[in-house]
Amino acid sequence: MLGGDSDIARATVEQLARDGQLDLVVLAVRAPDRVAVPDLGEHTAVEVLEWDALDVDGHEAFAAKVVAMTGGVDLLLCAVGSLGHHAGVSMEPAEVDRMLRTNTSGPAAAVAAFAPRMAERGTGRIVVLSSVAGVRPRRSNYVYGASKSGLDAFARGLADAVTDRGVDVLVVRPGFVRSSMTRGLDPAPFATDPLTVATAITARLARPGGGVLWVPKVLGPLFGVLVVLPTRWWRRIAGNR
Ligand SMILES: NC(=O)c1ccc[n+]([C@@H]2O[C@H](COP(=O)([O-])OP(=O)(O)OC[C@H]3O[C@@H](n4cnc5c(N)ncnc54)[C@H](OP(=O)(O)O)[C@@H]3O)[C@@H](O)[C@H]2O)c1
Repeated sequence: MLGGDSDIARATVEQLARDGQLDLVVLAVRAPDRVAVPDLGEHTAVEVLEWDALDVDGHEAFAAKVVAMTGGVDLLLCAVGSLGHHAGVSMEPAEVDRMLRTNTSGPAAAVAAFAPRMAERGTGRIVVLSSVAGVRPRRSNYVYGASKSGLDAFARGLADAVTDRGVDVLVVRPGFVRSSMTRGLDPAPFATDPLTVATAITARLARPGGGVLWVPKVLGPLFGVLVVLPTRWWRRIAGNR
């Protein structure tokens, strides 16, 4: 789990462990000392490793270490993310840069370190947490939206590149989720919680293949319309949300 302390990722591994599907979980986190190690039951061991999405030079060595520890990664869950202060125009250039590196280039580079190792083994699932925010940018959080849009495109292209090598990529596009990331913000329409996202992910993982998973499902057809809406209307609907 890249971003091993994420509420959504934790809820997901808790469900997978409860279903008896996990032998070993590796939590990749920035500050291992600050992380409460989850009890996933007697059949699932948990290891916590220090890892920073921004340390791109370290991603190859980190992936090699995890593969050596596990004997091969069956499931890579990428849940790193930073929402910042939910604003765009007031962000300093350095903040914009940091958000793009945290949400796009950092995780993409990390996934790129794992994917060939999984492809070489000829099996595996990669789950990448994207967001509806990346589907159509809006005034209040276009930096975050842009960063998720980049990661989303990366993951979908990667899916095409590795599908013939036994690796499936699932791109998850939740709407607003009540998690640590959104604490203090007013929930958007169709808001869910980490458990709902985790349930959707585990249900999808129970079937083979990859693709795009909207949570809740209604966001798929809804954004099918919103994405082609004239700019004037979109700005009115999105407001400052
Ligand atoms: N919550 C939502 O409304 C929502 C909606 C759509 C998509 N998503 C996406 O879902 C994923 C999980 O989010 P969440 O809701 O579970 O929020 P969360 O609990 O805040 O999880 C985000 C995780 O990313 C980690 N992280 C941030 N920067 C990092 C870095 N440089 N290196 C390593 N780890 C880093 C954080 O670790 P620290 O504890 O060290 O900060 C945190 O554990 C994210 O990719 C997010 O963008 C969330």
